[in-house]
Amino acid sequence: MTADLATATRNLDRNGFLDIDVDPTLDLEAEIQRLKKEKNAIVLAHYYQESEIQDVADYIGDSLGLSQKAAETDADIIVFAGVHFMAETAKMLSPTKKVLLPDLKAGCSLADSCPPHIFRKFKEKYPDHTVVSYINCTAELKTLTDICCTSTNALAIIESIPKDQPIIFAPDKNLGKYLVKKTGRDMVLWNGACMVHEIFSHERIVKLKNRHPNAKFIAHPECEPHILEMADFIGSTTGLLNFTKRDDATEYIVATESGILHQMQLASPHKSFIPAPPNNNCACNDCPHMKRNTMEKLYLCMEYEQPEIILPEWVIKEGVKSIDRMLEISEKAGLGLKKD
Ligand code: 13P
Ligand code: SF4
Repeated sequence: MTADLATATRNLDRNGFLDIDVDPTLDLEAEIQRLKKEKNAIVLAHYYQESEIQDVADYIGDSLGLSQKAAETDADIIVFAGVHFMAETAKMLSPTKKVLLPDLKAGCSLADSCPPHIFRKFKEKYPDHTVVSYINCTAELKTLTDICCTSTNALAIIESIPKDQPIIFAPDKNLGKYLVKKTGRDMVLWNGACMVHEIFSHERIVKLKNRHPNAKFIAHPECEPHILEMADFIGSTTGLLNFTKRDDATEYIVATESGILHQMQLASPHKSFIPAPPNNNCACNDCPHMKRNTMEKLYLCMEYEQPEIILPEWVIKEGVKSIDRMLEISEKAGLGLKKD
């Protein structure tokens, strides 16, 4: 562990976070609440964050809700408890605000699977196509994108594009295949995938379903097609959470990152939620990127206001168009944020 701020700041690029000792007796929740007030900061957390981070957040949501919240907040500082592409999206939507990410190395295998310089060449082969990119991509990829989408609004985005207009869909081939099946449109798919959603074991899920005959199997559309075929319900994290609230079953096998189980359990304490098993011996479906954030790193980044997300001006200017387009279509489709 590093002791002083100057050394930790110098090592930020290498470590991804401020490697400073935190007094173990400190009440981190109270400290984070104090820093929020003192600095007029808002903490936005994705459902895949550790439960204690979710509990201290001002807003917990899926990728669409988080970007809508980042666009409308009047806080001076946005602290993003999520992964790098989410914090970049917040920065593009609120370029004058300071956007902090507790650990810069909290990346995303999907975003990594689509390097912009290679995608640019790929796109040149399809000059007449509209590019729809899943928001899980880098800021630079967004500059090569016509419209972004999230798993909540992907169907509405595809359906907003005239039927005779060809589409490239990047970077998630599994979400892409799901959309091809739902819309009947033949899209050109980039060959990317999420490391967490690709790992579910068909065989172990079948066995689990046999042991829990009354459990419903629910899955995120980033899962592979043979997993989605078994699902009683498919949806984004918010979609899955809402389904478990309104549905009358009392047991669910959940095929997505395990962080979502915290909100499911809070909303329906009388129901039970079983994480779907992956195809290795590990019992968890944790996203190693999401789980790089900890309460200590969250506290340190708020205290010292780093690591900060900095983007070139041209990336913000060009990239935000695809996000704005997505937010407009979502609003029209009635997928806006519910006002408190
Ligand atoms: P949503 O929360 O938008 O469904 O996204 C899931 C995800 O993989 C985020 O990284
Ligand atoms: Fe990326 Fe998958 Fe992790 Fe989401 S769960 S941040 S898509 S690697």
